[in-house]
Amino acid sequence: MTTSSKTIVVLFSGRGSNLNAILEAQETGTIASGRVGLALTNNPQAGGLSHASAAGVPTAVINHRDFPNRVSFDRALMGRIDAAAPDLVVLAGFMRILSAEFCEHYAGRLINTHPSLLPAFPGAHAIADALAAGVDETGCTVHWVTAEVDAGPVIAQRRVSVQPGDTQAEVEKRILAQEHQLLPETIEAICSGAVAYR
Ligand code: GRF
Repeated sequence: MTTSSKTIVVLFSGRGSNLNAILEAQETGTIASGRVGLALTNNPQAGGLSHASAAGVPTAVINHRDFPNRVSFDRALMGRIDAAAPDLVVLAGFMRILSAEFCEHYAGRLINTHPSLLPAFPGAHAIADALAAGVDETGCTVHWVTAEVDAGPVIAQRRVSVQPGDTQAEVEKRILAQEHQLLPETIEAICSGAVAYR
């Protein structure tokens, strides 16, 4: 990537605290080499919609329930995302599994944040799985997305300690605090050209 400002599209499904961290990072200058051009959700009730609106970022809702299958939903997503001409597509708590067609279309410009130290604990219950396994540390990972869920090349990770007796909510809060730093920093590293797909 060159150093001209990059266009970022963020996909999210719920509370949108990572989306909010990205929007704040634009304001503080942590993200200086790109701007969010579109915040897109599959969930009409997603709390993150209000974060985007407050920041003046265009939003779109494409509800997966309106489509008969994954491929038709993903094609609708791709149409809306491509209309924004993104250099980088960020999955920030986007809770739908994406088709191989989608992943291949955005290969090299699609990243995800995941609440474990991948390859440990992939999947939708990463924090519960880590606690059930009795780990004394876990963390978060930002990785390139490939068609295999949570298995693409790791870009960056942050570690979080787990104390005996920690609740899932406590560990989740600790991980989120790290994600809110790591994801914007990684977005800037990609948009500035400091990190490239490999
Ligand atoms: C994050 O922990 C992310 O790693 C996971 O879902 C959570 C989303 O949180 N995939 P939020 O919606 O950004 O607050």
